Amino acid sequence: MALRALLHYALEVPDQTVGERFYRSFGLTAAPARLDAACLRPVDLERAAVLLYGGSRKRLHHLAFGAPGDEFEATRESLRRAGVREIDPPRGAPGDGMWIRDPDGNAVNIRSEGAETPPEDPPLAVNSPGHITRIAVRGAPDRAEARPRRLGHVLLFTPDVDRQIAFYTRALGLRLSDRSRSVIAFLRCSTDHHNLAFATSTGPGFHHGSFQVGSVDEIAMGAAHMQEAGWQPGWGLGRHVIGSNYFYYTRDPWGSFAEYYHDLDYIPEDCAWEARDFPEQDALSVWGPPVPGDFIVNREVQ
Ligand SMILES: [Fe+2]
Repeated sequence: MALRALLHYALEVPDQTVGERFYRSFGLTAAPARLDAACLRPVDLERAAVLLYGGSRKRLHHLAFGAPGDEFEATRESLRRAGVREIDPPRGAPGDGMWIRDPDGNAVNIRSEGAETPPEDPPLAVNSPGHITRIAVRGAPDRAEARPRRLGHVLLFTPDVDRQIAFYTRALGLRLSDRSRSVIAFLRCSTDHHNLAFATSTGPGFHHGSFQVGSVDEIAMGAAHMQEAGWQPGWGLGRHVIGSNYFYYTRDPWGSFAEYYHDLDYIPEDCAWEARDFPEQDALSVWGPPVPGDFIVNREVQ
């Protein structure tokens, strides 16, 4: 029994038009609107990865996960055994699949779908000491905007990281990949190092959604494009310790973030990966600019 994919995240935001403009600058494109939600998708995929509902303030509306084939009924049975009640979909949300609330009250939609896979990029050709893979070919990329390939993960605030780990691993079959004390924890439902992460706070909140791009160049060019388009810088370019990915975070219009990532740790299902508990100084980055003082502020409670 297990979830197999993070399908989308949905936010409530005070101005859907501003939200759409932000995510279009970020590199997503419009998907057909669903009921009351503006929908955005990576250009190479058909399904929406971000849904924006109207609301009085920014907050998470719901998360959607995929449990394809037999996993769907197995997940339903696991939730029943864990004493988790199914709920009606939140107002305006699609009714398909099943709906529950996690221990923080976040609405979660579980759908009988797998992940949509973007087309493969050609292999990166990188010259490193002793390993030449690009011969007599210029390497500087053409200037371009970022083209997010797919949604990778979401980071939420929680007042109880351990309670969220327990719920998502026991009731929904996610696996703990790594953590730093009870400050931050990274869980996966696929071969990505993490699809869902939790950071400690005094209450629930949405911190960021993260999208895979094709190279470090693409992260940096995407970051530059976001600033030229008038959006506020967040944090990066840098490289995380936990998950190992290169990152850049742009500030969204509501004080949370959208992240470009590249080169995340890959964990096949049947391999022996042991979750590590990292010291707190490793919770952020190996290298990168200083962390902005408000980077880990949960604006939904402060
Ligand atoms: Fe992230």
